[in-house]
Amino acid sequence: MLSRRDTLLTSLKTAFGLAIGASSPLGTLLTSPAAASDRPRSADWAIPFGAAIRDWPFQNEPAYRSALIAHCRQIVGEGGLKWADIRPTRESFVFDQPDRHMAFARQNGMEMRGHTLVWYGAMPEWTKTIGSSTEAERELVGHIETVMGRYRGRIKSWDVINEPIPDDPASRSDIRPSIWQQRMGEAHIALALRTAARIDPQAQLVMNEYDIEYVGDRFRRKREAFLRLIRDLKLRNTPLHAIGLQGHLRGEVAIDRDGLSAFIAEIRSMGLDVLVTELDVIDNKLPGPPDLRDAMAAARAYDFLQAIQTVARPKAILTWGITDKYTWVPLWFKRTDGLANRPLPFDEAYQPKLLMRVIEHFAKDPR
Ligand code: XIL
Repeated sequence: MLSRRDTLLTSLKTAFGLAIGASSPLGTLLTSPAAASDRPRSADWAIPFGAAIRDWPFQNEPAYRSALIAHCRQIVGEGGLKWADIRPTRESFVFDQPDRHMAFARQNGMEMRGHTLVWYGAMPEWTKTIGSSTEAERELVGHIETVMGRYRGRIKSWDVINEPIPDDPASRSDIRPSIWQQRMGEAHIALALRTAARIDPQAQLVMNEYDIEYVGDRFRRKREAFLRLIRDLKLRNTPLHAIGLQGHLRGEVAIDRDGLSAFIAEIRSMGLDVLVTELDVIDNKLPGPPDLRDAMAAARAYDFLQAIQTVARPKAILTWGITDKYTWVPLWFKRTDGLANRPLPFDEAYQPKLLMRVIEHFAKDPR
């Protein structure tokens, strides 16, 4: 008779084309029975683990806060520091949410990352009225001075630039449209980084991107366009310290392990660090049964983290949420069978999933 373990590995092979040896490190991770390590103790892992924090459950659900306290060494606001939240009008800065998160981080001995200063998304309507390059420059610099200035020395790592490359770049010099790109062109990126370095010279300045880890032409082009931008910034001695791989993994698409490792090697050769900033597994196109789905998600994350870690040790691994109960994934990637998405390391009842085991494995730095 087939054991549960064999059944799972066979299903993975049928559904996913993934042959995983039962005694391979991944096979063992996916099939070993729940053990003490299923209560992750991230305090002594080589790589700090963290998660994005959503303000509503943070304020209203004690179990949510407890999970963050129990498992995370870092947090990052899912919102709160985005322009739409912090700049409802041109004249105002609303710091309530990030201040709350910062107080929580400090009380619990966590670091808080800053997300984000320059992004095309979550821009308040009024920014459309920014008319000239001079005005755009003034607004962007003023924003970074005020927001970074407030948290100087307290937020030690900032996603200064988020998602600068279009989904399907037309050329290597293609930059994603935003008010900043429309008014200043690519120069807004260096301006933001230089301003950030001036305001908090100790802070780790990060440029963050998604969709660069998969097999496929579009993703190879995105990697190349991102690398072109990074190289140009470094050639001009622009302060930039690390690249953030968001890691919103599409469950059904294979990781280009060689392509991703080569990308990381190139980043390292420029002296840049790597972080995993928003890991989760988008599971709308994965099969329904939770056991199989969780194993597939964990296997994807394994491929992703291993391709990075064979080249460099990430400075942090953060997931974009802690529990399946609160995740952005259904906003864009709802399942058609009515089942809930399961993208995160803990389920809706805050029980650890296979994804957490995989993260723990890499965060302990097995090299
Ligand atoms: C998402 C948040 O999770 C949602 O709650 C919000 O409505 C939209 O933004 N990449 C990013 C994040 O860099 O800022 C996005 O966060 C998810 C994709």
